[in-house]
Amino acid sequence: MLPPHQKLVARLERAGVLPRHWRTAFTRVERHHFLPDRITAPDGEVVDRSQDPKRWLDLAYDDIPIITQLDDGTEDGSGYPTSSASQPTIVADMLSRLDVLPGMRVLEVGTGTGYNSALLCELLGEENVTTIEVDADLAEQARERLLGTGLAPLVVTGDGARGWPARAPFDRVICTAAVQRVPYAWVAQTKPGGRILTPWGTAFHNGVLADLRVGTDGTARGHFEGDVAFMWVRDQRAPRRVVQTHVRPEEQSFTTSNTKLHPYEPIHDFDASFAIGLRMPTVLNRVEFDSGDTQHFTVHLVDPGTGSWASWHIDPEQRSPGHEVHQHGPRALFTELADAYEWWRGAGKPAHTRLGLTVSAERQEAWLNDPRSPV
Ligand SMILES: C[S@@+](CC[C@H](N)C(=O)[O-])C[C@H]1O[C@@H](n2cnc3c(N)ncnc32)[C@H](O)[C@@H]1O
Repeated sequence: MLPPHQKLVARLERAGVLPRHWRTAFTRVERHHFLPDRITAPDGEVVDRSQDPKRWLDLAYDDIPIITQLDDGTEDGSGYPTSSASQPTIVADMLSRLDVLPGMRVLEVGTGTGYNSALLCELLGEENVTTIEVDADLAEQARERLLGTGLAPLVVTGDGARGWPARAPFDRVICTAAVQRVPYAWVAQTKPGGRILTPWGTAFHNGVLADLRVGTDGTARGHFEGDVAFMWVRDQRAPRRVVQTHVRPEEQSFTTSNTKLHPYEPIHDFDASFAIGLRMPTVLNRVEFDSGDTQHFTVHLVDPGTGSWASWHIDPEQRSPGHEVHQHGPRALFTELADAYEWWRGAGKPAHTRLGLTVSAERQEAWLNDPRSPV
């Protein structure tokens, strides 16, 4: 019987996400050394190592993300995950996409447990790895765990959006939290020809990976790829409870219309939803099911900045004249969504990989096929 660690490495190899030159690092770094005693599985199962050491170890080597902190480490929150050890398949996939080779200098944003940093240290040498974590307690725990396995990269406590100029320029920047705006500091601190890999999304859709190459002109460009949903960097988190806060039809005026469009098409379709998010990046969508019923539901679109909302009621029996839509506020959000969906269809339903991003000192701009065709 293989020990759980070796089983995980074998599983990553079988899945084809572990390139040959990463094998030694993944074999040397054992994930359980980086996990706290109390961990949470994605389905909410909480396991304490002292009470159930076998289950704890099984979860550590399952190919799942392990939630390691809730509510920024405060005791009185609602149980919102704020740090995790990412899913091993995603860790391996991102490291292989990063296209990093021994001797390169890498900046990692989002140290979390330190597991990813340890893998980078094994391949590149600890002197070439700088990792930044915004949460002081997590940064300290990662430092200790890394040292416990004999590794001493530079672990900085701070806001990764600023990068770490003291060690720039880097060959690669990898972020392990999602952004809606790529901080320009990452571009400025990467060598021309170097790469930035980060989970990226909009309030509407989280998300994909942005794989950017830094040019000699001080801008970074590249395509979107992958299908990942990371937690947001701390200051770009989507606001919570937006429906409760903004959608109050009893006391707000709204217009009523009907549509034949079902949310399955623009929202459930990964590529459609991603493209629509590029056209209305600040708008959130939230689904509320009628109690005990998955057939009858409402999709709410909310733009917190303007207080605009749209509620799109789905009643499967109500085929004619269509689904009822209410819209409130200065932005007609359902109309915008329908227009954005039509734009995506008219463009030939492009996959997200045909879309890309340019980041300059002044702005970031998404494009279709080519940087000269902004979305
Ligand atoms: C998914 S976890 C990272 C997983 C980690 N790479 C690992 O191997 O365990 C995301 C981390 O990003 C951190 N984070 C969020 N915003 C940040 C910021 N602005 N700068 C640095 N770290 C940040 C969170 O505190 C969290 O620990």
